Amino acid sequence: MTGKFISFEGPDGAGKTSVMAQIQADLEQQLGKARVMYTREPGGNHISEQIRRVLFDNQNTDMDGRTEALLFAAARRQHIVSEIIPGLKRNQVILCDRYVDSSIAYQGAGRHLGEQEIWQINQFAIDGLLPDLTIYLDVESELGLRRIAEHRSDQVNRLDKEQLSFHRTVRKSYLRLQQESPERIKLIDAGQPLDKVINDVKQTIHTKFPDLF
Ligand code: TYD
Repeated sequence: MTGKFISFEGPDGAGKTSVMAQIQADLEQQLGKARVMYTREPGGNHISEQIRRVLFDNQNTDMDGRTEALLFAAARRQHIVSEIIPGLKRNQVILCDRYVDSSIAYQGAGRHLGEQEIWQINQFAIDGLLPDLTIYLDVESELGLRRIAEHRSDQVNRLDKEQLSFHRTVRKSYLRLQQESPERIKLIDAGQPLDKVINDVKQTIHTKFPDLF
């Protein structure tokens, strides 16, 4: 497998969508569309998109936490097999909107299921496949929530409705993950203006992969 696997992580409201759109556009400019793949979790293929609909259905408020965690892991497994591995074999640069760190931060810490337990079920799902590089967009919880309220009030989903304390717990878990794996996970200050954040992300990608940007 010769491609590059880059995941993007962050608490809700970190600006991940805007940052990724610009990174994708600029990479496509440099490498051509065929060399770049944008994909997201949960989703990215027809089976995982069906699982996504179950996860984010506003009527499923009674979903058990472990059920939720297993569904995220199942969607991830299918995504790896259907999209990520074929993309790496085609030598593509894969920009993946969330991956295993999201499950550890949201289900493990946020939903109190245990970061270690969530890591265990995900080891079965990912079978050793970790990103070459993870861009962690870090934002203060208050600012993240304010951004969601301002820009996406029409798209609030079941998970976005969580309390400030949930967001804080998720962020703390991300920060711990970053400290534990500083080689793979790079922290970007996403409280800065968008163009600064994008610049920092490009710099970080370039440092890891000198032929990009
Ligand atoms: P999405 O609509 O993709 O929003 P975002 O732009 O914030 O990524 O929703 C993703 C939501 O799913 C987000 O609240 C985080 C959550 N999530 C988990 O809880 N666990 C996971 O493993 C993944 C991949 C996502």
